[in-house]
Amino acid sequence: MLLSIYKGEDMCGIYGYIGEKSVEEVMKGIKRLEYRGYDSAGIAFQSGEKLNEDENTTNGENITVIKNKGEISNLERIVLNKNLKSNVSIGHTRWATHGEPSIKNSHPHLSGDGRWAIVHNGIIENYLDLKEDLGLQVESETDTEVVALLLEKYYNGNVLSTIKNVCEKLNGSYAFAIITSHSPNKIFVAKRNSPVVVGYGKRYGVVCSDINSIKGANIYVLENEQYAVIERGKINIFDKNLMAINTSELGVVKKVEGGKLGDYSHYMLKEIDEIPTAIKRTVNLYNNIDTLNDALHKLKFKNILIIGCGTAYHAGLIGKRLFEEEGIHCECEIASEFRYKPFVDKKNTLAIFVSQSGETADTINALKLCKQKGLKTLAITNVRNSSITFVADYCIYTCAGSEIGVASTKAYNCQLAIFHILSKYFNYIKNGDSKMFYDEIKNLKSIATLIRNNEIKPICRHIAQKIYKSKSIYMIGRGLDYSIAAEASLKLKEISYIHCEAYPAGELKHGTISLIDKNTFVFAFVTQEKIKDKTFSNINEVVAREGKIILFSPFDNSNKKVVEEIKVPKIKERYYPLFIINYLQLISYYTALLLGNNPDKPRSLAKSVTVE
Ligand code: AGP
Repeated sequence: MLLSIYKGEDMCGIYGYIGEKSVEEVMKGIKRLEYRGYDSAGIAFQSGEKLNEDENTTNGENITVIKNKGEISNLERIVLNKNLKSNVSIGHTRWATHGEPSIKNSHPHLSGDGRWAIVHNGIIENYLDLKEDLGLQVESETDTEVVALLLEKYYNGNVLSTIKNVCEKLNGSYAFAIITSHSPNKIFVAKRNSPVVVGYGKRYGVVCSDINSIKGANIYVLENEQYAVIERGKINIFDKNLMAINTSELGVVKKVEGGKLGDYSHYMLKEIDEIPTAIKRTVNLYNNIDTLNDALHKLKFKNILIIGCGTAYHAGLIGKRLFEEEGIHCECEIASEFRYKPFVDKKNTLAIFVSQSGETADTINALKLCKQKGLKTLAITNVRNSSITFVADYCIYTCAGSEIGVASTKAYNCQLAIFHILSKYFNYIKNGDSKMFYDEIKNLKSIATLIRNNEIKPICRHIAQKIYKSKSIYMIGRGLDYSIAAEASLKLKEISYIHCEAYPAGELKHGTISLIDKNTFVFAFVTQEKIKDKTFSNINEVVAREGKIILFSPFDNSNKKVVEEIKVPKIKERYYPLFIINYLQLISYYTALLLGNNPDKPRSLAKSVTVE
């Protein structure tokens, strides 16, 4: 039954609260959801008092709506100043898909008579038809406002049956939280194909689009076509015919992990500094064969397919190489590509899905596809109870702790640690050699200890200072070094907004080298003995075009024209990605700061990409 926790795609967040200080509770709730996007946010609350109206504030009938563009702190500034008293509030964070990020388009939406306020996750596919057929006058470009108008239009004296009748007219996906002056002191919830959970405690009730962002409470996961009516201290759940039902309770969800900034100015830096501890925690969770036997039931397979997006995909590239070293055939695919290409059934394949958040739409949909095709599926995720954990056959957890910065850092290192562990565990399953497994565990812990960010911060700041005015940067390497380049270049571009491309070093001369001139920095990674001479030749080719090489290598370099050389310690070659990426995470961070960007919330991005 829990399978249906995830079936929709939306980038927004819903939080509703009924009980004392509901406005403050909702503001805290939507802050926890900010990772889903931060284009705009809004809150609606029941109140007998009318506020002065302005571009942010609208009064309905005993309902007031306040919205603002940009980060939630912009809304918070207005809301928390007003000392608002209300026991019933619903809030929303938005990442624009239909219509620009604006106050008008942000949720909640009020009906024309001001008696209904609604927040919505999902997409109503027939909203334009409904609007035109019924001649509805809307102010925003959203599908949600149409629903608010339908509630007003079809109100039949019974709120729940009105909501049901309206939902039956809608095509597409939704999780709605609705308040109405027709039935005060309640929050009404409806769900189809967009995740939503409801809960209650002694004196409160709560609704949230994300199970990990709901606080306390006895939690119920709503199924498709179910409705909930939330009151203080109780919840009633109804099926599609409005028959009251008992649904299984998930119990009290563990305290929401807050991720406090402490003395740090940004989560990203804090999270990079947490990498050694995060790796050790992850390794300690899976540091023996019995634990893995329990988690994976001694899975047997011939081939591996790794699927992920962005940084998770880049971790997969390393995983592929590590599995290949154990003689296991492995492919690694970008989730959004994999889903639309012909499916070639390699018999006996284990499909591994990597996702920090466990909420990425493309990855989850690729997982569902693989399940349909009969593949065994394993999720590697950082978030317990995330949607992916309800869909995959098996789960392995990275223990990075909550990652709040949009740029993934410590989660990536932990994903690599898991691939290292799995590669030796699968080898053990095949060959029965447990020594190699336990050596790997030991080695991973030593590498974690070798990562000393405080020692490398000065050089990273220095490199950032050199490159921050660049228009375009390239990163090259071969094999594992190319995978480092791929992740490093994503990190740099997503938070600095500098164009940056990763290239397999040998491929540069087949076209891209024509872009290298005296203004171009090229990061080169050379950590693999077997191919080092080849990459050094490629470095010479760049230098010959006056390109400015920044070299990361444990090997001696003879090219005197390399502008920066970072001599990394000699370690076993397979661990270099885990070790070197820290330099690049820090360089990206300092570059973003020099450019005046907020590395925690880069423009146009969200932590969790829940649209396809
Ligand atoms: C990483 O820095 C990015 N923000 C992004 O590429 C991310 O890794 C990708 O969206 C996948 O997210 P997931 O791991 O939560 O599935």
